[in-house]
Amino acid sequence: MSIAYLNGEYMALEEARISPLDRGFLFGDGIYEVIPYYGGKSVGLIPHIERMIDGLGSIEIKCNKSVDEWKELLDEVIARNDGANQNLGVYVHVSRGADTKRFHAYPENVEPTIFCFTFAIKEPEPVDREKVTAYSVTTTQDLRWKRCHIKSTALLGNVMHFQQGYASGNSECLLYNDKNELTEGSSVNAFIVKDGVVVTPIQDNQILPGITRRIIIDSLKADGSIPVEERTVTMDEVLNADEVWISSSSKEIAPVVKIDDKPVGDGKVGPVWEKAFGIYTAAKFDHS
Ligand code: PDD
Repeated sequence: MSIAYLNGEYMALEEARISPLDRGFLFGDGIYEVIPYYGGKSVGLIPHIERMIDGLGSIEIKCNKSVDEWKELLDEVIARNDGANQNLGVYVHVSRGADTKRFHAYPENVEPTIFCFTFAIKEPEPVDREKVTAYSVTTTQDLRWKRCHIKSTALLGNVMHFQQGYASGNSECLLYNDKNELTEGSSVNAFIVKDGVVVTPIQDNQILPGITRRIIIDSLKADGSIPVEERTVTMDEVLNADEVWISSSSKEIAPVVKIDDKPVGDGKVGPVWEKAFGIYTAAKFDHS
């Protein structure tokens, strides 16, 4: 049974309760993170905490925990769930809290709700293009909001896009804007490879500043053997790429071999994925 943290107390997840007037419940008014820990070792913990603090600042939720205090709390949640002996994701969620009424404006003097729980995550995939799980995805126009850089708990737009892929037997849905440019997936960032160059859309309001995306770019640049570019990527380029990858804290770097039922490149996981995933795997714990 997972041990959850709620507003200063630890309890069995099933026993955690919040008010129905919580603005996270009524409005999706909150910020969240998902952080992976492998055998108790985190990947990207500090950048995840910093992104959450930035997100809370951008929607004016006042939560005065420092980076160190967040780290201590998340490490403690992992420890209480026997994180040293398994692979766990920790979900952390800060909503604006429960008011006494439903009113859109940000209330004064309401304490944020802080909630964390853990869940099992898979073993990392092997660095082997013959053995790795390969993904198929659909595509659709990105109909979410214009503040996708904020990791808001209001995920209905993402959920609807994810469902579109899932309902047709795919595991993600790649999204494009009204200029036919790739943004990201419903719960992942996206990369293409063409002629040995790795390319990913620039970081702006159309995409989440993914921590895995950042670790991939930084570790590939530090290694230096695979060129990486951050620039606009058209859907034409996506559909003609040699390789397509998706990334997130739970999927790490996952190769996509089919888009809208058509093969990516030769339809097999590519050699650049294998090399890049090896570089990422060797570097990921340095980004804790
Ligand atoms: N999803 N883009 C979107 C829209 C996301 O929701 C996520 C993460 C990512 C990848 O970000 P990161 O590398 O920091 O995990 C990109 C999380 C895992 C989720 O909602 O469960």
